[in-house]
Amino acid sequence: MNILAPSLLAADFGHMEKQLLELSEAGVDTVHLDVMDGMFVPNISFGAPVIKYVRKALPDAFLDIHMMVQNPLRYMDDMIKAGGNAITVHYEATEDPKEDLLRIRSAGIRAGIAISPDTPSSVLEDLLYITDMVLVMSVYPGFGNQEIVPSSFEKLKEVKKMVDDSGRSIDIEVDGGITLDNVRSIIRAGANVIVSGSAVFTDNIKQSAGDFLRILKEEESR
Ligand code: DX5
Ligand code: ZN
Repeated sequence: MNILAPSLLAADFGHMEKQLLELSEAGVDTVHLDVMDGMFVPNISFGAPVIKYVRKALPDAFLDIHMMVQNPLRYMDDMIKAGGNAITVHYEATEDPKEDLLRIRSAGIRAGIAISPDTPSSVLEDLLYITDMVLVMSVYPGFGNQEIVPSSFEKLKEVKKMVDDSGRSIDIEVDGGITLDNVRSIIRAGANVIVSGSAVFTDNIKQSAGDFLRILKEEESR
């Protein structure tokens, strides 16, 4: 199933609740939350208190937490308490991705592994058996509103093949630089969970989200 996961990073935090409700009215049921520590990435974003607020605004949404944090499991319990339904850790930010994935799963939520543009897809090979979602970063993590890295298409195809060969049902998420213009080709390359920040949080959120959802549905029935 194709899923749209708007990235809160691009929201106007002065009108967060209103914007979240607009997403929900458009039919969005997943929100992507970028937690950044200023260490693994140069930027700092937000943590559990903000996620708690998102949970309060959207009690039924699936909260997809993308940890751009060194040693991310330091915050696992906080993220779950705040309302997280999935935690994705970066392969590059942890000493033992296997242990992290296992710990996330045993906490009863979905476990994701993210790879940055310079990390080869081959590192995923040993991890798929304990992974619910692979996140292919299509920009260098840290900031919204960047241009997509062109090699992401090839990377998605590799990951899609690996996942299909494994016979497991693993979501493939893509994050960074996704727009209404490139989302079809991104889906055809293998992604089914589409993160988008700046292309969803426009002057007309309801319309942008609706346009994305329509394309996702069309691609699904292709
Ligand atoms: C970047 C974040 C993304 C970001 C995407 O490090 O992981 O989720 O918000 O934003 P856009 O869609 O604007 O590239
Ligand atoms: Zn993200």
